[in-house]
Amino acid sequence: MRLMETFLKEPQIPESFLKKSNEALTQEGWRLKKELGPRLYIPGHHYQRDEVIQFADDRGDSLRLAQLSAKKTDAEYIVFCGVHFMAETADMLTGEHQKVILPDRRAGCAMADMANIYQLERAWHHIQKTFGDTVIPMTYINSTAEIKAFCGRHGGATLTSSNADRMMKWAFAQKERILFLPDQHLGRNTGVKLGLGLDEMVVWNPVQDVFEGEANERTKVILWKGFCTVHEKFTAKNVSSCRKADPDIRILVHPECDYEVVRQADYVGSTKYIIETINQAPKGSHWAIGTEMNLVNRLKQEHPDLQIRLLNPVMCSCLTMNRIDLPHLVWSLTQIAEGKPANIIRVPEKIAKDAVLALDRMLEQSK
Ligand code: 13P
Ligand code: SF4
Repeated sequence: MRLMETFLKEPQIPESFLKKSNEALTQEGWRLKKELGPRLYIPGHHYQRDEVIQFADDRGDSLRLAQLSAKKTDAEYIVFCGVHFMAETADMLTGEHQKVILPDRRAGCAMADMANIYQLERAWHHIQKTFGDTVIPMTYINSTAEIKAFCGRHGGATLTSSNADRMMKWAFAQKERILFLPDQHLGRNTGVKLGLGLDEMVVWNPVQDVFEGEANERTKVILWKGFCTVHEKFTAKNVSSCRKADPDIRILVHPECDYEVVRQADYVGSTKYIIETINQAPKGSHWAIGTEMNLVNRLKQEHPDLQIRLLNPVMCSCLTMNRIDLPHLVWSLTQIAEGKPANIIRVPEKIAKDAVLALDRMLEQSK
């Protein structure tokens, strides 16, 4: 209710912005960016639309954007072209004098929404009862600040798809077991990469408050039952269809995909890894990529010498990432220029203090 009230009190984008042509908005966007100069910094995630990402001062995956935000001490306004958890992270890593703005507050993340603090407190109680003090909570950066704060308070850390294996090794050096939030697929795929068997991992169902499967002394990783609604759409059937249609195809997927898809793929890695793999691909090679559509389409445009397709041909892009569109971005810049910035993302101090512990432990391991 409180969230809804805050949302309704925020100034809303006027209809007139939604009616402007892309051309007019693009022109206005560049004019405002020039006018605001170094007071403004625009980080953009690789999954953003083309018309938005053109304005980004830096593009990156979650890890790079977190690292860049931490270093950007001079910009007064950070207009984050990404989703809510990324803007929260940027707010916690930047100074008091800086304001982080998310052009559309509705740009959330379905995966981050699959773990809330009440569910986590209940799960933790149950897990402590089952395993005693042998578990460290680790969270994918795709989670709310409250989940990060819980991990920070309990000695754990955040991680991203670029450093998940390094951070899991770090976690095993602290405790015997890991509670991995909120993406079961990244947790499982990374566990297998580190040599764990599937029978050494058990799923925690946060809706029913139960383990799915046997939790026993062999359990090394407890996987929170969350997933990415975009990457989940890639299936093992897509992999076999692509191989059947083109025997020369190379399958390249993000580790947020299901275990079976990852097992059958030729290459697996984070957004950064996917971009680097395509940048280094031999001329004329054929690729089917399992990640967000805006990025795959951009890679296709940038590499006309390669044959690139989306692993699942009937996908749509990440709807929440796409909430950041040209009208919202330009409206945000207008509000700043007029001295009334809207949609400021501010994590309460009490939560930020602990969440930063989790973020700092990750940044320390990622230098
Ligand atoms: P990375 O940027 O860490 O690869 O994460 C992908 C993603 O789904 C971001 O929301
Ligand atoms: Fe969340 Fe998946 Fe969208 Fe990333 S792609 S913002 S994990 S729903």
